[in-house]
Amino acid sequence: MCGIVGYIGDKKAQPILLNALGKLEYRGYDSCGIAIANKSIEVYKDVGRVKALAKILEPHNGKVGIGHTRWATHGEPSKINAHPHSDCAGKIAVVHNGTINNFSRLREMLAEEGHVLASETDTEVIPHLIEKYYDGDFEKAVEMAVGEIDGAYTMIAIMAGESRLIAARKDSPLIIGVGDRENLIASDVPALLDYTSRVIYLEDGDIAVVSASDVKVKQNGAVIDREVHEISWSMEDAQKGGYEHFMLKEIHEQPKVIRDTLTDYLSKAETAADLTGMGGGSLENIIILACGTSYHAGLVGKYIIEDLVNVPVRVEMADEFSLSGQSPAGNQAIVITQSGETLDVLKAIKRLKANGNRVIAVTNVVGSSVTRAADRTIYTRAGPEICVAATKTFVAQLIALYWLALPYARVNAARLDELVLELRQLPVKVQQVLDNEAEIAAYAKKLAAYDNVFYIGKGINYPIAMEGALKLKEISYIHAEGYAAGELKHGPFSLLGEKTPVVAVVTQDNTYEPIVTSIKEIKARHSPVIVLANEDDDVMPDLADSVITIPRVDPLFSPVVNITALQLLAYFVAKERGCPIDFPRNLAKTVTVE
Ligand code: M6R
Repeated sequence: MCGIVGYIGDKKAQPILLNALGKLEYRGYDSCGIAIANKSIEVYKDVGRVKALAKILEPHNGKVGIGHTRWATHGEPSKINAHPHSDCAGKIAVVHNGTINNFSRLREMLAEEGHVLASETDTEVIPHLIEKYYDGDFEKAVEMAVGEIDGAYTMIAIMAGESRLIAARKDSPLIIGVGDRENLIASDVPALLDYTSRVIYLEDGDIAVVSASDVKVKQNGAVIDREVHEISWSMEDAQKGGYEHFMLKEIHEQPKVIRDTLTDYLSKAETAADLTGMGGGSLENIIILACGTSYHAGLVGKYIIEDLVNVPVRVEMADEFSLSGQSPAGNQAIVITQSGETLDVLKAIKRLKANGNRVIAVTNVVGSSVTRAADRTIYTRAGPEICVAATKTFVAQLIALYWLALPYARVNAARLDELVLELRQLPVKVQQVLDNEAEIAAYAKKLAAYDNVFYIGKGINYPIAMEGALKLKEISYIHAEGYAAGELKHGPFSLLGEKTPVVAVVTQDNTYEPIVTSIKEIKARHSPVIVLANEDDDVMPDLADSVITIPRVDPLFSPVVNITALQLLAYFVAKERGCPIDFPRNLAKTVTVE
């Protein structure tokens, strides 16, 4: 899950590569580097972020180059492990995203043949393999090198004296930006948008040979046509727009994201059965698979579908799914992944399809790998999400799940109308939470002083407690756990006390009374309690230490407003603690490794 980029054209490559790398840093940012090809190859790399690299670069006029921003897998973040990596003669340079399974064997083989590999990385075998196979034909050498590799090898190679970038895609995204007298290659669209809005999505197994004026794509040795797509969102969409952090901007975009996602679904809906792209088939034996925040969306989806459609839903983490003894057969599976590239999800899809399950993907990224792997895709319309912590894409996923369930809802027409009306009003309700930002920021200041926090919720808001805790730990580095309110007394109570606050989601539904009881029990153990409660709740102000007021919505939709408040809470805690909010340590936005 590193970010890679390549440039070839009529301009100096160095500033373009640096700019593009800056846009890819969300994918990994422990070290970075670039290589520029002329008659020779110059490599510049170091630990740290792209801005620091820019300061140590010597200006270079070369018009062909590659760049990399790293999320370490093999070997610690260090200058020697940073990419690009080179061959013995220093004539070939490679940037790579993925993990090479057979790299130990390849390293041994190359060492026996006299190659000296300097780093601990798996990547370094690639330039040496290209060197080994090079007999005057760069393209053939790359193809032969790729043929030796087992694993994920999305990469770009350059060679001294060559006016071509050669790229290969396997298991991670790679997109060609088609420009005017210049072409680019990158792991994600934002890196390309300053130069072109015309892109080609490479597919697994593709090898692309790219010059300033031509793009050739080969699959299994044969040249093939890949469609050129026009990107509809602009660079402005992917910039901070006056907000201090992408995360805050992205939380504030949520009313628009809900509107855009609903508008998109409504515009395509000719009949109720068309709404979801499920083709009107029956909605039975549902399994939902996802990771991280998307998994939490899946857990909310279970409550939505079981409540509305009255069918049992099984939700599993995609990374655990492959370990469960029995793979289900003949089910309707829904996989949720904002990036569309999460390797654990893609592997789960392979297993699902091998057993005859039908797979619907919910994703935010057009043309991502999941869209090709699944039978059908439902897009969320959140626009580019840059902050590593997912916020607006989570809300968009919830909207997709409501929309997916509504056509199958076993409720009367009046209730259905009511639900659709409530759904349409959600942007206004979410805006009310955003307007309450100052109050949430004030509570965050207090919470920032603690080292451990529990989040509790019940029913449909139990996954929201989990997601609130994930947001807090991810960006503020405070240890946080999300629990079902009733579970706390079965063990975690031993940790309660003045130094362990509890954030409780207590918006009103049929779980209100039992959660009030839980809060009384928690208060008896002296833990400070912050609650999310409806504005007309007259019990909580006396019971809790702090109350964040939440507009009342139908309980089914309460996760959307509640998570908005918890996202803001996590944001302001992290800000208070001076954390690098958009790029938390050790994380990456797109997780394309196991
Ligand atoms: O792209 P995906 O939705 O498949 O990503 C899954 C997780 O890696 C992701 O949600 C992760 O947990 C986020 N950093 C959460 O903010």
